[in-house]
Amino acid sequence: MHTPEPGLAQPMALPTTTPAAGIAPSPGLGGFAPERFGVVGFGRMAQALLLPLIDGGLVPAAAVRAVVGSGASAARLAAQHGLAVSTDPAEAWQAPVLLLAVKPQLLAAAAEAARGSAPAGAAPATPAGSGPGAGDQPLLISVLAGVTLARLQALFPGHRIVRAVPNTPALVRQGLTGLAWGEGIAPEQQLWVRQLFAQVGEVLDLPESQLDAFLALTSSGPAYVALVAEALADGAVAAGLPRALALRLAHRTLAGTAALLQEQELHPAQLKDMVASPGGTTIAGLRQLERAGVRSALIEAVVAAAERSRQLA
Ligand SMILES: NC(=O)c1ccc[n+]([C@@H]2O[C@H](COP(=O)([O-])OP(=O)(O)OC[C@H]3O[C@@H](n4cnc5c(N)ncnc54)[C@H](OP(=O)(O)O)[C@@H]3O)[C@@H](O)[C@H]2O)c1
Repeated sequence: MHTPEPGLAQPMALPTTTPAAGIAPSPGLGGFAPERFGVVGFGRMAQALLLPLIDGGLVPAAAVRAVVGSGASAARLAAQHGLAVSTDPAEAWQAPVLLLAVKPQLLAAAAEAARGSAPAGAAPATPAGSGPGAGDQPLLISVLAGVTLARLQALFPGHRIVRAVPNTPALVRQGLTGLAWGEGIAPEQQLWVRQLFAQVGEVLDLPESQLDAFLALTSSGPAYVALVAEALADGAVAAGLPRALALRLAHRTLAGTAALLQEQELHPAQLKDMVASPGGTTIAGLRQLERAGVRSALIEAVVAAAERSRQLA
């Protein structure tokens, strides 16, 4: 492992993390084995999360009750994935565990559907184990960007709530998910939820106050990195490479650089200095980047995304 030079910042130690690799599927982990898994909104994010869980055996396909907005997409998704997908929210909302993955503007409609579908005798929220029915309260996993635990708890008073902030690299099982826990979720349920998201990447427990900044980097970040990839390829095309080759090389350069930073625990400044030899090609390019304010632009992009996330809350 590389030893960082004196004066350079050390890589940050992350809070609780769970690696994607090597996780053995274990339905019933810690004694928590829900019979039904409701999915409210089965779009891009829900599919990116759920399909690996089914493949990995963590959620049996027969346990899934998914609800979508249109009959056409229900029929298509049911046929495509062999799952129970419909436009009727009742069964999904009666499941002991639900993934809520609609667009935030549909939140009120989802809350209405939850109220209309509550199983008879559903208990109001109480601290875990503190009252009758506490263990029976369904667990709601929300991936809605910017919707706070307090708002979710007000809208879904009969549920235990966890906020999850996953990102699109979950599609290739290289995602990052930040989790902020609501009141009263039992340790075995927490373990189970972490295990779910560990199927598609790394999982971190975070205070809710950090989720906006987390989202600004990890959920919006793929768009910024994609823009950098495209711009690097444009530069290579301008310098004479064919487009397809330029794009492939740009992607590979980004992936290889990220792997090098991570595996050797290098600070980015160390890697930059390793590559930039005196009077060479890289330092000539770096001068241009600094002149154009690229560093500042990226900082401001992340700050703007975090502020926007707070505004949307
Ligand atoms: N995509 C990301 O990178 C990302 C990352 C983190 C969090 N999120 C969050 O994930 C959520 C979903 O985003 P997405 O990109 O997956 O959206 P999406 O692909 O548009 O999926 C939305 C889903 O909701 C369904 N739906 C529409 N009306 C409904 C209703 N009345 N009841 C139940 N379901 C309904 C849609 O069905 P139809 O197709 O039939 O209309 C579709 O299956 C958002 O809140 C977003 O903040 C997304």
